[in-house]
Amino acid sequence: MRKKIVAANWKMNLSFQEAEELIEEFIDLLSEEEELQTDIIVCPPFPYLEMAGDYAAESSFKVGAQNISSFQAGAYTGEVSAGMLKSMGVSHCIIGHSERRKYFHEEEKILTAKVNQALANELIPIFCVGELLPEREAGKHHQVVRKQVRHGLFHLDTNEFEKVIIAYEPVWAIGTGMTALPEQAAEMHAYIRSLIAERYHQDVADRTKILYGGSCNAQNANQIFSQPGVDGGLIGGASLNATEFFTICKNAQ
Ligand code: PGA
Repeated sequence: MRKKIVAANWKMNLSFQEAEELIEEFIDLLSEEEELQTDIIVCPPFPYLEMAGDYAAESSFKVGAQNISSFQAGAYTGEVSAGMLKSMGVSHCIIGHSERRKYFHEEEKILTAKVNQALANELIPIFCVGELLPEREAGKHHQVVRKQVRHGLFHLDTNEFEKVIIAYEPVWAIGTGMTALPEQAAEMHAYIRSLIAERYHQDVADRTKILYGGSCNAQNANQIFSQPGVDGGLIGGASLNATEFFTICKNAQ
Protein backbone atom coordinates (compact mmCIF):
# COMPACT_ATOMS: atom_id res chain seq x y z
CA MET A 1 0.00 0.00 0.00
CA ARG A 2 1.50 3.33 -1.09
CA LYS A 3 1.38 6.04 1.55
CA LYS A 4 -0.39 9.18 0.39
CA ILE A 5 1.63 12.35 -0.21
CA VAL A 6 0.39 15.93 -0.25
CA ALA A 7 2.81 18.62 -1.43
CA ALA A 8 2.23 22.36 -1.16
CA ASN A 9 3.49 24.45 -4.06
CA TRP A 10 3.37 28.04 -2.83
CA LYS A 11 4.75 29.35 -6.13
CA MET A 12 5.83 33.02 -5.99
CA ASN A 13 3.46 34.07 -3.22
CA LEU A 14 3.54 35.50 0.32
CA SER A 15 5.82 37.89 2.18
CA PHE A 16 8.25 36.38 4.68
CA GLN A 17 5.93 37.29 7.56
CA GLU A 18 2.90 35.81 5.81
CA ALA A 19 4.85 32.65 5.08
CA GLU A 20 5.86 32.30 8.70
CA GLU A 21 2.28 32.84 9.87
CA LEU A 22 1.00 30.24 7.43
CA ILE A 23 3.51 27.65 8.65
CA GLU A 24 2.79 28.41 12.31
CA GLU A 25 -0.94 28.06 11.76
CA PHE A 26 -0.43 24.82 9.84
CA ILE A 27 1.83 23.37 12.54
CA ASP A 28 -0.77 24.16 15.19
CA LEU A 29 -3.35 22.21 13.20
CA LEU A 30 -0.91 19.36 12.63
CA SER A 31 -0.04 19.10 16.30
CA GLU A 32 -3.68 18.48 17.17
CA GLU A 33 -3.82 15.53 14.78
CA GLU A 34 -1.50 12.83 16.00
CA GLU A 35 -2.79 10.11 13.72
CA LEU A 36 -2.19 11.84 10.38
CA GLN A 37 -0.81 9.21 7.99
CA THR A 38 -0.01 11.51 5.07
CA ASP A 39 3.51 12.50 3.99
CA ILE A 40 3.46 16.28 3.74
CA ILE A 41 5.96 18.32 1.74
CA VAL A 42 5.95 22.12 1.79
CA CYS A 43 7.64 23.85 -1.15
CA PRO A 44 8.11 27.56 -0.42
CA PRO A 45 10.11 30.06 -2.49
CA PHE A 46 13.91 29.76 -2.09
CA PRO A 47 14.40 32.58 0.45
CA TYR A 48 11.95 30.95 2.87
CA LEU A 49 13.43 27.45 2.77
CA GLU A 50 15.62 27.90 5.81
CA MET A 51 12.75 29.26 7.90
CA ALA A 52 10.49 26.43 6.72
CA GLY A 53 13.25 23.94 7.50
CA ASP A 54 13.54 25.24 11.06
CA TYR A 55 9.81 24.72 11.59
CA ALA A 56 9.89 21.34 9.85
CA ALA A 57 12.59 20.14 12.25
CA GLU A 58 10.05 20.51 15.07
CA SER A 59 7.15 19.06 13.11
CA SER A 60 6.34 16.17 10.81
CA PHE A 61 6.44 17.76 7.35
CA LYS A 62 9.30 17.87 4.87
CA VAL A 63 10.58 20.79 2.85
CA GLY A 64 10.97 20.90 -0.93
CA ALA A 65 12.21 23.47 -3.41
CA GLN A 66 10.20 24.63 -6.42
CA ASN A 67 13.16 24.51 -8.78
CA ILE A 68 16.86 23.66 -9.03
CA SER A 69 19.65 24.49 -11.41
CA SER A 70 20.47 22.07 -14.18
CA PHE A 71 24.15 22.70 -13.38
CA GLN A 72 26.24 21.25 -10.59
CA ALA A 73 28.06 24.39 -9.38
CA GLY A 74 30.09 27.37 -10.56
CA ALA A 75 29.61 30.57 -12.55
CA TYR A 76 25.84 30.46 -13.07
CA THR A 77 24.64 33.76 -11.61
CA GLY A 78 21.24 33.56 -9.96
CA GLU A 79 21.05 29.77 -9.92
CA VAL A 80 20.56 27.53 -6.91
CA SER A 81 22.09 24.07 -7.04
CA ALA A 82 20.65 20.77 -5.83
CA GLY A 83 23.75 20.35 -3.65
CA MET A 84 23.11 23.67 -1.88
CA LEU A 85 19.54 22.68 -1.15
CA LYS A 86 20.56 19.26 0.10
CA SER A 87 23.17 20.82 2.39
CA MET A 88 20.47 22.89 4.08
CA GLY A 89 18.12 19.98 4.71
CA VAL A 90 15.78 20.24 1.72
CA SER A 91 14.57 16.77 0.71
CA HIS A 92 12.41 17.25 -2.41
CA CYS A 93 12.34 19.38 -5.52
CA ILE A 94 9.60 20.11 -8.05
CA ILE A 95 10.90 19.68 -11.60
CA GLY A 96 9.13 20.26 -14.90
CA HIS A 97 6.20 22.25 -13.56
CA SER A 98 4.16 23.59 -16.47
CA GLU A 99 4.89 27.17 -15.38
CA ARG A 100 8.62 26.47 -15.66
CA ARG A 101 8.09 24.81 -19.04
CA LYS A 102 6.01 27.75 -20.27
CA TYR A 103 7.57 30.91 -18.81
CA PHE A 104 11.17 29.76 -18.48
CA HIS A 105 11.31 27.65 -21.61
CA GLU A 106 12.49 24.58 -19.77
CA GLU A 107 12.70 21.97 -22.43
CA GLU A 108 13.33 18.29 -22.21
CA LYS A 109 17.14 18.46 -22.16
CA ILE A 110 17.11 20.92 -19.26
CA LEU A 111 14.56 18.89 -17.34
CA THR A 112 16.56 15.70 -17.80
CA ALA A 113 19.64 17.51 -16.47
CA LYS A 114 17.64 18.78 -13.49
CA VAL A 115 16.36 15.31 -12.68
CA ASN A 116 19.96 14.05 -12.83
CA GLN A 117 21.17 16.87 -10.60
CA ALA A 118 18.43 16.16 -8.05
CA LEU A 119 19.22 12.46 -7.87
CA ALA A 120 22.99 12.96 -7.82
CA ASN A 121 22.48 15.18 -4.78
CA GLU A 122 19.93 12.95 -3.10
CA LEU A 123 16.94 15.20 -3.59
CA ILE A 124 13.67 13.51 -4.49
CA PRO A 125 12.30 14.93 -7.73
CA ILE A 126 8.59 15.63 -7.97
CA PHE A 127 8.44 15.46 -11.75
CA CYS A 128 5.42 17.19 -13.29
CA VAL A 129 3.74 16.18 -16.52
CA GLY A 130 0.46 17.19 -18.10
CA GLU A 131 -1.20 18.22 -21.31
CA LEU A 132 -2.59 21.58 -22.50
CA LEU A 133 -6.33 21.94 -23.13
CA PRO A 134 -6.05 21.87 -26.96
CA GLU A 135 -3.95 18.73 -26.66
CA ARG A 136 -6.64 17.02 -24.60
CA GLU A 137 -9.35 18.25 -26.94
CA ALA A 138 -7.42 16.83 -29.87
CA GLY A 139 -7.13 13.49 -28.08
CA LYS A 140 -3.36 13.88 -27.80
CA HIS A 141 -3.07 13.86 -24.01
CA HIS A 142 -1.62 10.35 -23.81
CA GLN A 143 0.93 11.10 -26.48
CA VAL A 144 2.02 14.33 -24.74
CA VAL A 145 2.32 12.79 -21.30
CA ARG A 146 4.10 9.72 -22.70
CA LYS A 147 6.72 11.97 -24.31
CA GLN A 148 7.20 13.99 -21.12
CA VAL A 149 7.60 10.91 -18.93
CA ARG A 150 9.93 9.17 -21.40
CA HIS A 151 12.18 12.16 -22.01
CA GLY A 152 12.30 13.30 -18.41
CA LEU A 153 12.65 9.99 -16.61
CA PHE A 154 13.13 6.88 -18.71
CA HIS A 155 16.88 7.35 -19.04
CA LEU A 156 17.11 6.48 -15.32
CA ASP A 157 17.98 3.00 -14.16
CA THR A 158 15.45 1.21 -11.96
CA ASN A 159 17.15 2.19 -8.75
CA GLU A 160 17.16 5.89 -9.65
CA PHE A 161 13.66 5.83 -11.11
CA GLU A 162 12.23 4.40 -7.91
CA LYS A 163 13.21 7.57 -6.05
CA VAL A 164 11.06 9.80 -8.26
CA ILE A 165 7.55 11.04 -7.51
CA ILE A 166 5.45 11.91 -10.56
CA ALA A 167 2.77 14.60 -10.53
CA TYR A 168 0.13 14.54 -13.24
CA GLU A 169 -1.05 18.11 -13.63
CA PRO A 170 -3.27 18.77 -16.63
CA VAL A 171 -2.26 22.33 -17.51
CA TRP A 172 -5.86 23.36 -18.13
CA ALA A 173 -6.66 22.52 -14.50
CA ILE A 174 -3.85 24.51 -12.88
CA GLY A 175 -5.09 27.61 -11.11
CA THR A 176 -8.26 27.63 -13.19
CA GLY A 177 -10.75 26.08 -10.78
CA MET A 178 -11.35 23.48 -13.48
CA THR A 179 -10.32 20.17 -11.90
CA ALA A 180 -9.95 17.06 -14.00
CA LEU A 181 -12.83 14.68 -13.48
CA PRO A 182 -11.81 12.03 -10.96
CA GLU A 183 -12.10 9.43 -13.74
CA GLN A 184 -9.84 11.47 -16.02
CA ALA A 185 -7.21 11.63 -13.28
CA ALA A 186 -7.52 7.90 -12.55
CA GLU A 187 -7.30 7.05 -16.23
CA MET A 188 -4.13 9.08 -16.80
CA HIS A 189 -2.52 7.74 -13.64
CA ALA A 190 -3.20 4.20 -14.86
CA TYR A 191 -1.76 5.10 -18.25
CA ILE A 192 1.45 6.50 -16.71
CA ARG A 193 1.74 3.37 -14.61
CA SER A 194 1.39 1.21 -17.71
CA LEU A 195 4.29 3.10 -19.33
CA ILE A 196 6.40 2.48 -16.24
CA ALA A 197 5.54 -1.22 -16.25
CA GLU A 198 6.53 -1.43 -19.91
CA ARG A 199 9.86 0.38 -19.39
CA TYR A 200 10.80 -1.10 -15.99
CA HIS A 201 8.60 -3.74 -14.38
CA GLN A 202 5.06 -4.08 -13.07
CA ASP A 203 6.41 -4.08 -9.50
CA VAL A 204 8.17 -0.78 -10.13
CA ALA A 205 4.97 0.67 -11.61
CA ASP A 206 3.01 -0.52 -8.59
CA ARG A 207 5.42 1.19 -6.22
CA THR A 208 5.64 4.52 -8.08
CA LYS A 209 3.89 7.43 -6.40
CA ILE A 210 1.80 9.50 -8.77
CA LEU A 211 0.15 12.67 -7.48
CA TYR A 212 -2.62 14.70 -9.06
CA GLY A 213 -2.40 18.47 -9.31
CA GLY A 214 -4.70 21.17 -10.67
CA SER A 215 -7.32 23.11 -8.70
CA CYS A 216 -7.37 20.58 -5.89
CA ASN A 217 -9.10 21.99 -2.82
CA ALA A 218 -10.69 20.96 0.47
CA GLN A 219 -13.98 20.19 -1.29
CA ASN A 220 -12.76 17.98 -4.11
CA ALA A 221 -9.59 16.40 -2.67
CA ASN A 222 -11.37 13.46 -1.10
CA GLN A 223 -13.02 12.44 -4.34
CA ILE A 224 -9.82 12.75 -6.37
CA PHE A 225 -7.54 11.09 -3.83
CA SER A 226 -9.85 8.13 -3.46
CA GLN A 227 -9.46 7.25 -7.14
CA PRO A 228 -7.41 4.13 -7.80
CA GLY A 229 -3.80 4.99 -8.54
CA VAL A 230 -3.97 8.54 -7.19
CA ASP A 231 -1.40 8.78 -4.41
CA GLY A 232 -2.13 12.31 -3.23
CA GLY A 233 -1.78 15.79 -4.64
CA LEU A 234 0.39 18.72 -5.57
CA ILE A 235 -1.53 21.71 -4.29
CA GLY A 236 -1.05 25.30 -5.45
CA GLY A 237 -3.61 27.95 -4.52
CA ALA A 238 -5.28 25.94 -1.77
CA SER A 239 -1.95 25.42 0.02
CA LEU A 240 -1.80 29.14 0.85
CA ASN A 241 -4.51 28.72 3.46
CA ALA A 242 -3.51 26.64 6.49
CA THR A 243 -6.98 25.28 7.29
CA GLU A 244 -7.71 24.37 3.70
CA PHE A 245 -4.33 22.74 3.17
CA PHE A 246 -4.67 20.83 6.43
CA THR A 247 -8.11 19.56 5.36
CA ILE A 248 -6.61 18.37 2.09
CA CYS A 249 -3.87 16.53 3.99
CA LYS A 250 -6.50 14.85 6.17
CA ASN A 251 -8.54 13.88 3.11
CA ALA A 252 -5.54 12.12 1.65
CA GLN A 253 -5.45 9.45 4.34
P1 PGA B 1 -3.36 24.88 -8.31
O1 PGA B 1 -1.83 24.61 -8.73
O2 PGA B 1 -3.66 23.93 -7.17
O3 PGA B 1 -3.39 26.32 -7.88
O4 PGA B 1 -4.19 24.60 -9.51
C1 PGA B 1 -1.29 23.31 -8.73
C2 PGA B 1 0.13 23.38 -9.20
O5 PGA B 1 0.43 24.19 -10.07
O6 PGA B 1 0.99 22.62 -8.71
